[in-house]
Amino acid sequence: MKKVLASIALLCTACLNVQCQKTEIHMNDGTTVEIPVEDIDSITFSMTNPFNFETRTVKLNNGYEMPIIGIGTFYLSTAQAEESVYNALKVGMRLIDTADIYGNEVGVGRGIRRAMQDFGIKREEIFVTSKLWTSSFNNADYEVDERLERLGLDYIDLLLLHHTAAYDEEAYQAMERGVRDGKIRSIGLSNFYEEDIDRMMKIATIKPAVLQNETHPYHQSRSVKAHIAKMGTILEAWFPLGGRGTGIKTLSEHEVITSIALAHNKSAYQVLLRWHLQCGTIAIPGSSNAAHIAEDYDIFDFELTPDEMNRINALECNHRFASY
Ligand SMILES: NC(=O)c1ccc[n+]([C@@H]2O[C@H](COP(=O)([O-])OP(=O)(O)OC[C@H]3O[C@@H](n4cnc5c(N)ncnc54)[C@H](OP(=O)(O)O)[C@@H]3O)[C@@H](O)[C@H]2O)c1
Repeated sequence: MKKVLASIALLCTACLNVQCQKTEIHMNDGTTVEIPVEDIDSITFSMTNPFNFETRTVKLNNGYEMPIIGIGTFYLSTAQAEESVYNALKVGMRLIDTADIYGNEVGVGRGIRRAMQDFGIKREEIFVTSKLWTSSFNNADYEVDERLERLGLDYIDLLLLHHTAAYDEEAYQAMERGVRDGKIRSIGLSNFYEEDIDRMMKIATIKPAVLQNETHPYHQSRSVKAHIAKMGTILEAWFPLGGRGTGIKTLSEHEVITSIALAHNKSAYQVLLRWHLQCGTIAIPGSSNAAHIAEDYDIFDFELTPDEMNRINALECNHRFASY
């Protein structure tokens, strides 16, 4: 299988033709390779995954590079967010996720400034995401400035609409003005699905760079991911480990995950995060624990095999752990 993957990667484009139990891959040099149907998922993943595992970034549809793993700050107080962001930057993470509704942007900004000073990190090496909350959609120009003010930054790397709501089209247009004014580099959506994405694209002049939705092995977001791929939009997983409720226990104690973890001498959490990245999905695990943050970033020294990817892919059951 490794040999087949290598040749696909080399030749770049190939056409897939599924027949019974075998899959024929027509290579662009005219040759044909036959592989078992059950391996198709991992092969298409490997062919289409745009992530650069050397730089640990992905090029967005507007040309900016975005780190593929970072720290989530949902549920963290201002002080906890400051510590978590500082610790994340200390171990090498460069992506930070916050939101107006988390109430901790001031702490996130403090953590960034402390880490820049202590570790000599430049602002342009850090990628900061925030989100506009629904109640401010009718006042979004002001709220864009408010995000900059609370974070203490000159620009935000990525600003998302947190959910669909009244005035979301007006808020999207306000974010587009923010891009034109140099206040925001990339814009995107969160908790949007096909129908609402299509509605937004009727008024949009800038395609979303990122869609941030609940995504994990029990809810893999495949259909919406295929939908946004046409625009070059990258999927980012919230609740990548299953969230702070029952989800994280369900996933981290699942026999499929624990057995794969054992095989690689890694934790279940690391296997879950590595699976996201090998799917071409950005992950932002939340944590207020320095050791967990270091562990969550230590996932670049192993690789899940096609069989292991398929076993995790098979856990899809359209089950969400969030209550909204
Ligand atoms: N757009 C949205 O609507 C939306 C919604 C929810 C979340 N989000 C974003 O997505 C991020 C991720 O979601 P989440 O934080 O809710 O859930 P999550 O990342 O799936 O899980 C967070 C939980 O995992 C634990 N954890 C993390 N690393 C661990 C490790 N190595 N070992 C053991 N436990 C570990 C954390 O506990 P410790 O603190 O003890 O490490 C915490 O309880 C959020 O922080 C937020 O930035 C966005």
